[in-house]
Amino acid sequence: MTHEPPFAHDGQWHVTRHADVRAVLAGPGFAVPEPPGGPTSGPASGPASGHAGGRAPGMGWLRGSVSRFSNDEEHKRRRSRVVAALAGLNAALLRREAFDLATAELAAAGPTVDVMALLARRVPVGVLAVHLGVATENREKAVAAVAGIAAAYHPRPAGADDGPDEHPSGLPGDHPGGDPADEAVGVLAGLLRDPAPDHLAAVAGLLVQACDATAGLIGNALSLVTHLPYDLITRWPAEAVLTETLRYDPPVRLTRRVARADAVVGGVVIPAGAVVVLDLAAAGRDPDVFPDPHRFDPGRRLLTGAGHLGFGSGLRPCPGDTIALALAAGVLEATRDHTAADPGVVYEPSPNLRVPVQLWLKAPNVSQTLCNNGLTDSLDHV
Ligand code: HEM
Repeated sequence: MTHEPPFAHDGQWHVTRHADVRAVLAGPGFAVPEPPGGPTSGPASGPASGHAGGRAPGMGWLRGSVSRFSNDEEHKRRRSRVVAALAGLNAALLRREAFDLATAELAAAGPTVDVMALLARRVPVGVLAVHLGVATENREKAVAAVAGIAAAYHPRPAGADDGPDEHPSGLPGDHPGGDPADEAVGVLAGLLRDPAPDHLAAVAGLLVQACDATAGLIGNALSLVTHLPYDLITRWPAEAVLTETLRYDPPVRLTRRVARADAVVGGVVIPAGAVVVLDLAAAGRDPDVFPDPHRFDPGRRLLTGAGHLGFGSGLRPCPGDTIALALAAGVLEATRDHTAADPGVVYEPSPNLRVPVQLWLKAPNVSQTLCNNGLTDSLDHV
């Protein structure tokens, strides 16, 4: 992991220092790359009305309609819909529901569980989907649809074709009956009772952005703390563990921008049109900002303005940061007594996300559970 001025490599510019990444994220001279197939400009039409900008509804429509892949005035419009949808959510309530749901799932499972399969997507996405308009009895259907969409959502890096993303779920692929990710967009629209296309784009965008990133945060945090001695595991509140994980081992490793004109970053000229890869993970280990950066320390005191960049920053930071932390904290707390059952962690193949494929944890023995109940209760109020 290097920290040096921006440099060009393999046709892209790479930015690794914390100050340089922040400068690009705050700079109006940088745009987000367009999704494959180009943006859908103007008011979105979509699955509910049949077609979007002349395109068949599905993944192409969704990518072309969400806040994440839009710029300028259109981005402002789309982001304001996203922020409005999030404004109605109560983070403390979501945290409690995530804790309760995860606790119930763990109680019904055996003593050894794969938290990635059992909890990491199902709980955050399920809780969020219900608060965003899915009927409780359809929660699992919504989770399946969102996971299918998320597997195909992120455009592949420059140079790759626009074919299906690699994903352990196998979605999407060569499916004679139609692309399952496209179909999943239609399923989600139905579960949300076929809202207006603008609203569908906002809510589907929220759920999809939440899915893999929150799963990665839960998986990465648990894979760190469950390997530590037991007294350390329970020493810190869930929020402190998650915040340090976002610095030390963030689920969103990088994001991209395109330079609209020549721009100076860290003393280096990045030419107009350059694709710029912002290394959020490297920025979190920048020794100029974080003393002893390779030590995982949830008790770390951060200098003013020197926060992690795991949620992005600048002109378009993650609007779901509070909700993500609340949902992940609920799950983390429910698994607080568990320890690692398998030391090896394999990650999903993704250029920009770090999400464990599986993470096996084992439940504590009975005497440990009894002695930890008081601690878990007190953490619940943090
Ligand atoms: C741990 C979980 C999460 C992480 C690490 C994360 C990280 C990020 C990052 C880094 C960005 C900015 C990308 C860029 O600047 O290019 C982003 C954008 C976004 N995130 Fe999150 N996110 C998480 C969870 C969520 C959740 C739970 C939601 C919704 C409730 C959400 C909704 C969004 C949306 C809508 C955007 C696009 C914003 C825009 O471009 O206007 N995220 N996220």
